[in-house]
Amino acid sequence: MTDSPPAPGQRTGPPEIDATVPNSARIWNYWLGGKDNYPVDRDAGDEYRSIYPEIVDVARASRRFLTRAVRYLAGEANVRQFLDIGTGLPTVDNTHEVAQRVAPEARVVYVDNDPVVLAHARALLTSTQGVTAFIDADLHDPDAILAGAARTLDLGQPVALMLLGIVGHIDDDDEARSIVRRLMDALPSGSYLTICDGTNDLYESGVEAQQLYNQSGAVPYRLRSARQIAELFEGLELVEPGVVSCPRWRPDPADLSDGPPPEMDQVAGVGRKP
Ligand SMILES: C[S@@+](CC[C@H](N)C(=O)[O-])C[C@H]1O[C@@H](n2cnc3c(N)ncnc32)[C@H](O)[C@@H]1O
Repeated sequence: MTDSPPAPGQRTGPPEIDATVPNSARIWNYWLGGKDNYPVDRDAGDEYRSIYPEIVDVARASRRFLTRAVRYLAGEANVRQFLDIGTGLPTVDNTHEVAQRVAPEARVVYVDNDPVVLAHARALLTSTQGVTAFIDADLHDPDAILAGAARTLDLGQPVALMLLGIVGHIDDDDEARSIVRRLMDALPSGSYLTICDGTNDLYESGVEAQQLYNQSGAVPYRLRSARQIAELFEGLELVEPGVVSCPRWRPDPADLSDGPPPEMDQVAGVGRKP
């Protein structure tokens, strides 16, 4: 990891961690089977799961999608730079590990605004080859993200922008669209947008669980329709098979041993900037 001086607006002291309010990154970590969470997160995660048990498969499918998408981007698409916003707590097969397995020289910038993620990421998201850097920044401020990323990435060369499980944290539809557009506008032709996000098309129980979660004090998450998420790829060339239920995006052969992967209230897609 590069250890560069803090950019304007970045925290410099030890991160403040609030263990009394449930937290997106830690609940996600709990559903993924991780240990970096507190009782308040496990209680909120269990309450969610009691209404919508599918959430655990959704979280795990999202991480498996990340592996397939990054493998595609670093391999077939030949991308060497990644900007992963909404990193989450380190787990197995983080973006830089998958990318650098394919292309050891790959440069990866992680971005998150959560102090817990920040603390773990600085320690764990390191690479012995290529470059891995971490920016403490907020998706609501894409200009700060771009300025921070430019210290590690060459924004004149293609970049794969990764937005996995984070667009829902932007409540307003217009703002979500304008943030994605602002980020993609700053990247050159041949760059990619990758999104995976929860949807509200299939399961009423998922919507109900999310409503409860959003009242818990955690930063709310807005479920959108698959169509609304597909619209975020406007102006880009969608990589086959388009924006689909997350486990159906280019499944590995092993994923097909029990038949077609399930339809989920979570869609994913990859689009190329022409
Ligand atoms: C559901 S987790 C997804 C983690 C990872 N991308 C994955 O797919 O496994 C959402 C992550 O987005 C981060 N996040 C939420 N709102 C954010 C914002 N406005 N700016 C930056 N990061 C944010 C959270 O801290 C958390 O780490």
